[in-house]
Formats: sequence, C-alpha cells, structure tokens
Amino acid sequence: MKKIIIVSNRLPLKVEKNEKSIVFTPTSGGLATGLKSIHESDNALWIGWPGVSKEELNETQVDQIQKSLREMNFKPVHLDNEQVENFYLGLSNKSIWPLFHYFKQNVVFDENQWNAYVQVNEQFAQAIIEEIKPGDTLWVHDYQLMLVPKLIRQKVPDVTIGFFLHIPFPSFEIFRIFPKRREILSGLIGADLIGFHTYDYERHFLSSVKRILHLEVNFNTINNEGREVVVNTFPMGIDFEKFQAVSKTHSEIDKSQYGEIRKQLSSHREHTNGKLILSIDRLDYTKGILNRIEAFEIFLQRFPEYHEKIRLVMVIVPSRSEVSHYKQLKKKTDESIGRVNGLFSTVNWTPIWYYYRSFEFNDLIDLYRECEIGMVTPLRDGMNLVAKEFLATKIDSKGILILSELAGASKELHHALLVNPFDTLSLSDAIHEAINMSDAEQVERNKPMRERIRRYDIHEWSKRFMKELGAISERVSEDQTVKIKSKEQNTILQSFNLAKNRLLLLDYDGTLTGFHVNHKKAIPSEKLLKTIKVLSENNSTNVVIISGRSSDFLEKHFGHLYIDLIAEHGHLIRTKGTSKWKEKNISSNDWMPHILPIMQQFADNTPGTFVEIKKNSLVWHYRKTDPELGIIKSEELKTILSSMISNEVHLMNGDKIIEIVSSSVNKGTAAVERLDSSNYDFILAAGDDITDEDMFHYLPPRAINIKVGLKDTVAKYRIVDPIAMVDFLEQLTHSF
Ligand code: UDP
Ligand code: G6P
Repeated sequence: MKKIIIVSNRLPLKVEKNEKSIVFTPTSGGLATGLKSIHESDNALWIGWPGVSKEELNETQVDQIQKSLREMNFKPVHLDNEQVENFYLGLSNKSIWPLFHYFKQNVVFDENQWNAYVQVNEQFAQAIIEEIKPGDTLWVHDYQLMLVPKLIRQKVPDVTIGFFLHIPFPSFEIFRIFPKRREILSGLIGADLIGFHTYDYERHFLSSVKRILHLEVNFNTINNEGREVVVNTFPMGIDFEKFQAVSKTHSEIDKSQYGEIRKQLSSHREHTNGKLILSIDRLDYTKGILNRIEAFEIFLQRFPEYHEKIRLVMVIVPSRSEVSHYKQLKKKTDESIGRVNGLFSTVNWTPIWYYYRSFEFNDLIDLYRECEIGMVTPLRDGMNLVAKEFLATKIDSKGILILSELAGASKELHHALLVNPFDTLSLSDAIHEAINMSDAEQVERNKPMRERIRRYDIHEWSKRFMKELGAISERVSEDQTVKIKSKEQNTILQSFNLAKNRLLLLDYDGTLTGFHVNHKKAIPSEKLLKTIKVLSENNSTNVVIISGRSSDFLEKHFGHLYIDLIAEHGHLIRTKGTSKWKEKNISSNDWMPHILPIMQQFADNTPGTFVEIKKNSLVWHYRKTDPELGIIKSEELKTILSSMISNEVHLMNGDKIIEIVSSSVNKGTAAVERLDSSNYDFILAAGDDITDEDMFHYLPPRAINIKVGLKDTVAKYRIVDPIAMVDFLEQLTHSF
C-alpha cells in the first residue's frame, strides 16, 4: 500500500519531560490542523524534530519517545545542542529567515552553520529514506528543509515529492545575495510540486530559477534537465468552522462562566465604553511590533479625545529567544510599551495591556471576540493566520481588521483596512478610521472576507495541494514513452550483444552533455570521451555524433576519435578515418546577407546575446541574457524573420537559440543517408530536442530511439538526463 510521508522541522506535538515520564501534547497550529486528515489516513507518517535536544534525554527516554511516537504515526529526528545552535537558531533563523523577510541587515552567514544545515537536511533525508518506497508520496515543509527534495530524488527517484514554503520567497535581487543560492534552488527543484502562499512569491522563485540556474521555465513549469517541476500558489487557510463554532459557543456562555481574560476585557468595556484593539504575534522583528506601538503613540498624541477609552491589547508570544536580534527586540518592545504607558496612563487607564506569553485556544477565542479592532501590521509575513482567525470569530460580521499590505493574507483579504506598516502616521489614521467605522461598513467589508476564508479553509488548502501532486504523479506515469530501467536496459543490451553491425547516432547538447550558459564551455566529460573511445574501437560498432554544432567544435573535441561526425544538423560530414569535412550540396546561402544584419542588430540591442555564424546556418544565442528579456526579444526576432524567409530555409526554435538553416538538409535526411551505406542489425539513436525528432522520424521502425529528457517525443524510450545517458552508453561497453 502506498504511503504518504509528511516532513516538517517541528512535529505537531509538544514533548515535555517531567520527573517520571515524557508527556506528549498535540499542538493545534495551522499545519497540524491542515494535515490532520492526511496524517490520520491509513499508512501516513509524520517525520520531524520533537523539540527537545538530545542532551536532555537519556537512552531510555530516546527509545521511549521513538516508541510512543511511532504508535501515533510520528517519527522523531533528534538534534543535539550543536545542531540546534547551528542549524535551527543559526542558518535557519539567523540567515534564511531574515533574508527571506527582507531583513538584510539582520542576516548572519556562517560557513559552519551552513554545514550544519546540510548535515541536518541529510539527517532528515536519511530518516525519510528508511521509510519511503518507490510510488510513495512525500510532502516537505518550510525553509528549514529546502535541501531535502533533491536529497530524496537522488536516492529514490520514483517517488512523488511536494514542497511548501510557509514564508515569503524574496525577489531575485534579495535572494541573489545568499551565498548558497544555487544549492537552495537545486535542493527545492528536486520536488515535483512547489507551493507558495502568494503569486508574488511564486513569481520571485521562478525568476531566481531562470536567472541563477538558467533553467527553462514555461508558465509555471520548470524543465529541470528533462524532469518537470510545477510551481503553484496555495494560500494557506485556517480551520474556519472550528473558530466559528467555538466563537458561537462562547457567545452563549453566561457571564458567571467567563474565563479570566474575558472578564478583564469585558470590564474594560463596562468602565470606558470604548473599543479594544488586539494584536497577536510571536516576538519577531518581521511582525512590526515597534511600528505598531509607535503608530498607537501617534494616535494618542493626535486624538486625545480617545484617552481613557481606547486600549491596545498586545499578545506577544516568546520565540527564538536565544537569537540576539530577538533578545534586542524584546528589550526595545518592553521599553516602548513602558514609555507609552508612562506617558499616557492615568489612575483609571493604561493604554497598552501587554502579555508576554502564549494563550490556550479558548482564551485566544475570547481575545478575538472581545476586541473590535484587529491590528495585524507585519513588516513582512508569508501569510499571517491571526488575521484570518480574527475574522472567523466575528460571527455577526462586525469588527475591523487593519492589515499590512506586506502580509501574504492581504492578497485575499483586500476588503480590510490595508496599510503600509512603515508609514506610522497613516497607521494612526487607520486606527482612527477603524474606531469610527459604521457597523454597516464593517459588515459589508467582512462578509466577503469571511466567505473567502470559509470556502478556502485549511482542509481545502491541503486537499488542493495533494490533488495537484497526485495529478502530476499520474501525468508522469501516463507517459507513453518507456523509461529505460534495468529490464529495458537488459533487453537493449541483449540485442546489442547479438548484433554484428551496429550504428549509434548520438546528438551532443542535451544528450551527451548538459547545457552551459556559455555554449563553448559545454564540453564533453572525460567519462563520455572514454566511453565513446571504447565503443568506437570495437570493429562491429559505428559511432556517429550528429549535432547542430559547428564542424570546428566537433573536430576540436571529438576529432581524435575513430567516429563519424555530422555537424550543423547534417550540412557537414566527416567520415571516420578521414580528416576532411564534406559539405552537403545545397542550392545556395544567398539568404545569409539578408538575415545576418537583423540578427546582429538584435545582438547589439540585447546585452548578453550574440550571433554564431556557421557554414550553412546563422544562430542567435540568448541563454546569457536576462531570461525575461530573452523571451520577449526572441518572439520579436521570430516574427521579423518569419516574414523574411522563403522555402529554401527554415527557422528552428531551439534551446535558448533561434537558428535559420537551409531546409533541404536536416538530421533525419543525414541519418538516413548514413544508413544507406551499410547493413546494420542494431540501430540506436539518442537526442533531446526538436531537431532530433527528425532523426527518430526518418529511421526504420526497428531503430531504438531514445529521448533524453522529458519533452514530448515520437521515440519509444526515454532517459532522464545526459548523465544517465552516458551511464547507459558505458553499460554497452561492458559487453565487449
Ligand atoms: N497562537 C497560539 N497561541 C497564542 C498566540 C498565537 O496558538 O497565544 C497561534 C495563532 O492562533 C496562529 C499562530 O499562532 O494560528 C500564528 O500564526 P501566524 O501565521 O499568524 O504567524 P507565525 O507565528 O506562523 O509567523
Ligand atoms: C513560522 C515558520 C514555521 C515555524 C513557526 C514557529 O510560522 O514558517 O516553520 O515553525 O514560525 O517558529 P519556530 O522557530 O518556533 O519553529
């Protein structure tokens, strides 16, 4: 039976030690709720850190945790103190967290911490590998584990991997600063589906993938050397029905049964007849706590008529308190609140009520219910669930949400009073507007927002993500082209062994080697050269490199081998044992002087692009330019060239190139010509792009055609990437 494995840094459980035993308390956070139904389904497992460091536990306790968690379908990954320091507090929360939230000034990058991040990601991967089997599904969560998808893909390729980032993905200009930017991106694209809260984060991520990894992106799909990676937006929701239902129950409770916090809040109302403003956050510099206090202070200065009426209730939950920026923020927060209270308090009134602790669920509901105004003003926040929870408890649709434009939630909750949290004067205006908003306007604003968060709740969020992941996995398995695994490899090897006269037609770029930003640097590996040499030295085996590359390039890298070289898609041929290139007779290259100036003009106007002049074709290369500019300019160039060319030439839209080439010759005609000269009982052709499809098309049905990568093809077989292709060729040499 297929398994689902969920992985997050923290397990959705609090593990506490008391003198006698270990106590497990489930947490009720968004993630825990959202994944509950998946986790409770048959054959699911959740892997994560139990939150206590290894040193705090003896061996018996480690075993006990392991055993008890297993009974609840959890598996712990234990971290020691040094790992907590370097991986969790260090790289995750002193480096990635501030950078991804645009707090460049707080970023500390330390190579040791990076090594710990790699090591802990490997430790998580190992814990997964011990459990996962081909065909299973894995869902990895958040910024602490961004290397895990690739680590799993390398070891267990045939699993479906989803990744969700719960924090913002910053713009390319910010992300590029990170020293290990390539490692992070290639770690993530080991997944099949990558989810973000908002379209902006998705866009930023794709932009970095294009600019840093130079991979091809079509709409929201990345071509990761032949494997498709889908990127999409899934805004995380809350358990709306639960918040609404508990809020309703609380609305019916008799006053004598009120909880402590509710008593305090309702007595404020009785004494002042004024409104309460609520803010709830972890103590984190991304949450805009200081700006909010400052805005409230400005409000009190500007509108003294509200003194002794309005109160700001601040719930600040302790978080990552060992990190110095968090320590400093705690000090500044205490000082600011102290200062405002000192300035404005009267015998009967303290303007800010401040709680530095967390509250349990029922108290949280009372806080949301009793406060008319919710003030959610982070300087940057991936989503912010507090904003949604505040609205969900407002069962009569009354209440005012002041919401930062820089929280992911603002994309969905656009009927809120949206504010720029850095503009504290406007924030104070928003407080004034909120206090004076009519009931009718509150209801008008809140109804559509409540409807949205009711419909797209946390269950819908996880359901949609899993549905899309399932669809991707089906698409991969529905592919008609057969992936070469050991069974297929053995069959091909058998016919290779039995054959007396073999022909191997091999494309070069994308087939025998990966792409490089500078096409001249995409040179053959030692392993490839050695493999081709061994193949070519076998009397019954004929190797042909059939490429769009120029004759100079092929000669430089393969000229010393006893093989045929076909350059420029069939226009130039050098037969093995000879050193002369024979040119195909084509009518003329009269078209070149007309096309060349146009291409050159595009190269001049588009930095990073250039024109390659081959004997029978002209190529405009745009791999090195800004990827978005490259696409726009390539479309423009294609339109112009299409209107100029006649039947004697055709336009080829290759991988980051536009090539104009004579139409009478292509790889298909060249391959067939090569066939005519001998009687082969084994023909194998391999290629990755559209020009190789000509070859597959023209070859007789008995030919073994192999597509390298994931693009559509007429070929019968598929191999995932050039590395695997070279491995496959090397296997053939073992027959000799
Ligand atoms: N929360 C809680 N107890 C508290 C305060 C907050 O359980 O005393 C919960 C709150 O209900 C919300 C979560 O903590 O679900 C905070 O999530 P949010 O997305 O707002 O911020 P994050 O902490 O993830 O940055
Ligand atoms: C954010 C992150 C989560 C993290 C949570 C609490 O919501 O996206 O991954 O678990 O904050 O932070 P902590 O450091 O206590 O796990």
